[in-house]
Amino acid sequence: MARRGTVLIHSRIAGTGSYLPQKIVTNADLEALVDTSDEWIASRTGIRERRMAAEGETTGDLAFHAATRALEAAGVKGSELDLIVLGTTTPDLIFPATACLLQHRLGANGCAAFDVNAACSGFMYALAVADQFIRSGSARKALVVGAETLTRMLDYGDRSTCVLFGDGAGAVVLEASDGPGIITTRLHADGGYKHLLYNPVGVSAGFRLDEPNAGVRVMMTGNEVFKVAVKTLDRMVGETLEAAGMHEADVDWLIPHQANLRIIEATARRLKLPMERVIVTVDRHGNTSSGSVPLALDEAVRSGKVQRGQTLLLEAFGGGFTWASALLKY
Ligand code: UT7
Repeated sequence: MARRGTVLIHSRIAGTGSYLPQKIVTNADLEALVDTSDEWIASRTGIRERRMAAEGETTGDLAFHAATRALEAAGVKGSELDLIVLGTTTPDLIFPATACLLQHRLGANGCAAFDVNAACSGFMYALAVADQFIRSGSARKALVVGAETLTRMLDYGDRSTCVLFGDGAGAVVLEASDGPGIITTRLHADGGYKHLLYNPVGVSAGFRLDEPNAGVRVMMTGNEVFKVAVKTLDRMVGETLEAAGMHEADVDWLIPHQANLRIIEATARRLKLPMERVIVTVDRHGNTSSGSVPLALDEAVRSGKVQRGQTLLLEAFGGGFTWASALLKY
C-alpha cells in the first residue's frame, strides 16, 4: 500500500449515482409471453417488475446517466478522473470498451478506461481494481460503474431465464483518503462451473446465424446455480469479516447482488442481520447483473438509509462462476 508522508492511502466512496430506463415490465406482462405466473415469479424470486432499455438505448447510455449523477454527488468533474473501470457483460460494441465511450462523453479524455467482464460480479471486480489503483498511489479519483442491458440477450421464449433479468446502471466515485473507506475486497472465480450459467456464442466461438438473435442468450441451470450461490456467499462473508478482523455485529448494512430474494435472505441469516438491515431492490429491478449492487447502494444512500460512517458489506455472485465482496466504511 502506498503512503503519503507517513499516512497510508485508502479509497473512500465520495459519491454514488444510478439510472434505470423508463419502461417497466411487470410479471403480468411476461404472463402474456411465456407460461408463467406472477405468483411463481414473486414466490420463487421476489421479483415483481424490472426495467427494459428503450430501442437504441445502450449500456453506455445507462452508464453515462449513472456516472453523471455519481460525479455530481461527489462534486468531481469528469476531467478530474484518473481512472474509469466499468463492469458489464453487455457492452455497446465488441470494442472499443464501453468505458472508453463513457470516458469521452464525460470529458475525461486521457485517463485509463477499461471494461471488466465478471458477469454479475462485474461491479464488485471493478470496485476492487479501482481500490487497488488508489491504494497503490496510481490514481486519486476513479469512477467505477456497473451497467447492463441484459434484456438484449434474453430469449423471450425461455421462461426459466426471461423473467429474471432487467436493465440498469449504478456508479460510484472513489477518492484517495487518509482512512478507510474500503477496508477489504475479496475476488474469486471458478471457471469449472461455466456450464451452469453462460452465453453460448461469441466472436471467437462463432455466432449461430440460423437462430434468433444469432444465438445470443442466457443459458442457466437455475436450481444448481442457486445451491452453489448460497453456499459460496455464506463462505465468502465469513472470509471477508475475518480478513478485516471484524464480526457480524459490526455490519450496519448488507448490500447484496439482487438475483433472488431467497438467496439474499440466506446471506442475511448467515450474518444474523434482520431484513431491515438489508437493501432489497430485486422486487423492482429484477437481476441487473453488474448494475445490481451499485443501484442498490445508490438507492440506500439517496433514501437516507445508509449514513456516513456506517459499515457496509457488498457482495455478488454470477457467471464464471465469479464471486466478490467489499467491506467498507461509507
Ligand atoms: O445472478 C447470477 C446468478 N444467478 C442466480 O443466482 C440465480 C439462481 N437461481 C434462482 O434464482 C432459482 O433457481 C430460479 C429462480 C432461477 C428458479 O427457481 P427454483 O425454485 O430453483 O425452480 P426450478 O428451476 O427448480 O424449477 C421448478 C419448476 C420447474 O418445473 P417442474 O420441473 O418442477 O415441473 C420449472 O420448469 O418451475 C418451473 N419454472 C417455471 N414455472 C413458471 C421455471 N421457470 C418458470 C417460470 N414460471 N418462469
